[in-house]
Amino acid sequence: MSTIETERPQARYALGHSPEEYDRLRTQARVWEDATGRLLDRVGLGPGASCLDAGCGPGETMRLMAERAGPTGRVLGIDTDSSLGAMALASLHDEGHRQCSFRAQDLTGGEPIPGAPFGLVYARLLLFHLPQRAAVLARLWDAVAPGGHLLVQDYDVRGITVLPALDSVGELMRVVGGVFHAVGADVHAGARLPQLFAQAGVGHPDGVDVAGRLEPFAVGRAFLERVFRSVLPVALAYGIITSAGATELLAVLDRDAARFPDCSMGWPLLIGAWKRKEQA
Ligand SMILES: C[S@@+](CC[C@H](N)C(=O)[O-])C[C@H]1O[C@@H](n2cnc3c(N)ncnc32)[C@H](O)[C@@H]1O
Repeated sequence: MSTIETERPQARYALGHSPEEYDRLRTQARVWEDATGRLLDRVGLGPGASCLDAGCGPGETMRLMAERAGPTGRVLGIDTDSSLGAMALASLHDEGHRQCSFRAQDLTGGEPIPGAPFGLVYARLLLFHLPQRAAVLARLWDAVAPGGHLLVQDYDVRGITVLPALDSVGELMRVVGGVFHAVGADVHAGARLPQLFAQAGVGHPDGVDVAGRLEPFAVGRAFLERVFRSVLPVALAYGIITSAGATELLAVLDRDAARFPDCSMGWPLLIGAWKRKEQA
């Protein structure tokens, strides 16, 4: 087990910007590739399309967009994290997706979204983190071209279940939930997408999709542990857990995974909602 370091949070984004978190995001994106690809197809993303991936992170959805939009399309990723964006773009270009570009920008700021309007504006696991989620969603809707689509996917952590229930997982969720609460995130953002669409002036979604995942606890606990490790610096800074408590919790989680390797563990639900903008 690696050492746990204490540091002050630099920003309100709770998951941080470590190489381990970048790797976790890439792994998580592979898990949800089918669930996202099926919605990109559902809204009819095809050759020549112009796409925005808001909060693109490691650029894995940009790849799915580029594959569908083809060389005549364009795919822009926007994220506050310029290092992660640069890595994403280098790897997309290496794979031949030259129609991809990246812009470092804080979507909660007032700067216009470059290149708007787009035929598809997409955001996955972004609004969850933003206290200003309705205002950002309204800006994303403004960036949709007439006849184009807004498509959002976000988590509801109520999908996280272990059978039988384990105290270690309950405690881990207390810490993770406490961190997200402290920074103004919404751990039920996915389930609230229809209300959020209405609040942002988008209107009722044309469709809603719910994706889930069930794994043996021996496998799925890695997801929980990696999220825990990513939010830990913020948890320590806010006094939600002590360093000793975190070390003990991870040890108990190890023991529980050895005792109950086959018990079922649900991931958070990934909930999608989309809306087509009427032609002017
Ligand atoms: C959980 S990650 C999801 C990344 C990607 N959408 C995916 O599903 O793989 C959230 C991303 O949103 C970015 N982000 C957070 N706040 C942001 C903001 N205010 N403006 C733009 N990007 C932001 C983070 O840097 C991070 O890359």
